[in-house]
Amino acid sequence: MFSATLVNWYQENKRDLPWRKTINPYKIWLSEIILQQTRVIQGLPYYTSFITNFPTVNALANAPEEKILRLWQGLGYYSRAKNLHKCAKIVVDQFQEKFPTTYDSLLKLPGIGPYTAAAIASFCYHQPIAVVDGNVYRVLSRIGGITTDISSPQGVREFKALANVLIDHQNPDSYNQAIMEFGALQCIPKKPSCPICPLKNTCFAYLHQEQHTLPVKLKKTKIRNRFFYYLVITINNKIVMNARKGKDIWQGLYDFPVYESEKRVDIEKALTVLLKDVNSYVIDNISEEYKHILSHQHIYGRFIKINITNNDLELNRQSFSIEEIIELPKPILINNYLNQYIF
Ligand code: ADE
Repeated sequence: MFSATLVNWYQENKRDLPWRKTINPYKIWLSEIILQQTRVIQGLPYYTSFITNFPTVNALANAPEEKILRLWQGLGYYSRAKNLHKCAKIVVDQFQEKFPTTYDSLLKLPGIGPYTAAAIASFCYHQPIAVVDGNVYRVLSRIGGITTDISSPQGVREFKALANVLIDHQNPDSYNQAIMEFGALQCIPKKPSCPICPLKNTCFAYLHQEQHTLPVKLKKTKIRNRFFYYLVITINNKIVMNARKGKDIWQGLYDFPVYESEKRVDIEKALTVLLKDVNSYVIDNISEEYKHILSHQHIYGRFIKINITNNDLELNRQSFSIEEIIELPKPILINNYLNQYIF
């Protein structure tokens, strides 16, 4: 009853989306990885550009990583883009360009977790494995009045088990699409339109007016503040940039030499550190503060643009022309600055 109502609702209300017109696992996989990063409307142009640039898993596997990062630019969480590349290479090298066809074998691939494996297994291979994402937690907790914390391991287990009981074994693909679409369009986090909901008569949250308290999520994300003071060195019409290394955000993306602090500091303090071995320079411009919000971090960036007049120090640094910089993969914070001050 629940699943039939949901699937009927879906047939009448579903959005027309390109990945719903295919059962090609490469396209499904790509769309699901992108949709973990962003909403459908923002994700669509990324999906289209990936499919245009890399029509097959083989094309993606053989692409340079920088090109993949450049196309991913703006989606954040760049390790996902790197895993995309790794996974494509494994599918090509070890599976003759064909994605594995079972949930368990899909799970072994880099970047494919329980959610993505369930999506591919059900959408492409008709396997009755329930997807459990934020939409599913919300719908199930409200309908059933389930107050288990969705950020606890017990909550994850409980919702997964329930979702797998409820899934329609005849139409696992439509059911999985339906429950996610229902969460995205009807059973939305704030102010859902319950009076027009086909499930309202059996919905615990509606009957008890508890929509706003469900689902229960106790673990709040801790936010770390980081203050980045960037030195934008212009030298013979080129700008010094480096690919970020180490186990930090934006690995492999290009930014400028940086002084980082946990607190906001005076620009003089940042300048002293950044310019300690630059002898001869002219400060061209100091930007206002840019704020960039990531899931667990708030980044505050300022940019100090200098022209080097005696360039001995800079000879061994990588620098790029404007045309080259346009093509480099960059964090959005850097792109925003460049668009405002440089391009
Ligand atoms: N979000 C995650 N997967 C989705 C899908 N297949 N369609 C729409 N939204 C989604």
